[in-house]
Amino acid sequence: MDTNQMKKIAAEEALKYIPENSMIGIGTGSTVNYFIDKLPTIKDKIAGVVASSKVTATKLRALGFILTDPNSVDELSIYVDGADEVNSNLQMIKGGGAALTGEKIIAAIAKKFICIADSSKKVAVLGKFPLPIEVIPIARSFVARNIVKLGGFPVYREGLITDYGNQIIDVWNLEILEPIKLEQEINNIPGVVTNGLFANRPADILLLGTENSVVTTAR
Ligand code: A5P
Repeated sequence: MDTNQMKKIAAEEALKYIPENSMIGIGTGSTVNYFIDKLPTIKDKIAGVVASSKVTATKLRALGFILTDPNSVDELSIYVDGADEVNSNLQMIKGGGAALTGEKIIAAIAKKFICIADSSKKVAVLGKFPLPIEVIPIARSFVARNIVKLGGFPVYREGLITDYGNQIIDVWNLEILEPIKLEQEINNIPGVVTNGLFANRPADILLLGTENSVVTTAR
């Protein structure tokens, strides 16, 4: 099975977790796109959808879904999203697609986070994948200098503007042994909007597409 097939079987497995009459949060990325493609098959179960990014919103609209504004939901039953890396505590690095801020907000609103990924995303220690940080543009260099103090190597993702008009710094060279602590430390730097560590709010269920099947891990 190739990586895309592993993504697809993980995404299709997630359909089984959607309760009747539920409001669903939808992440961003190539794995979630497989999930979105199959959503019309369970349309009668879905009370509403909340998108984590403009890209996802466009895809959902094209399939005939009417989007719900996150401001008008106080509870989401479920959030389905991919990851760039995930560890055994179901903590993740996300934001390779630059949608981390919307993703973190919708994940925080949701009662249950289902992470769908192919087996290449499973790691023992987070940090090989460069950690994305969304920054207010005037703070970019200041944030980068503080990241160097934390031992990281910051690289500006040139030409990229996020859904909220901000910029992204990708941080290389991190071996993240204390993900919750690092997530908080980076969030405390003035000018940081969000960082791509999802450790304080990890996934609740991981559906990992492997060579032969989907391996399920629950927290
Ligand atoms: C988007 O900003 C990311 O958080 C994605 O969820 C993550 O990059 C996974 O993407 P793929 O499913 O394309 O690997």
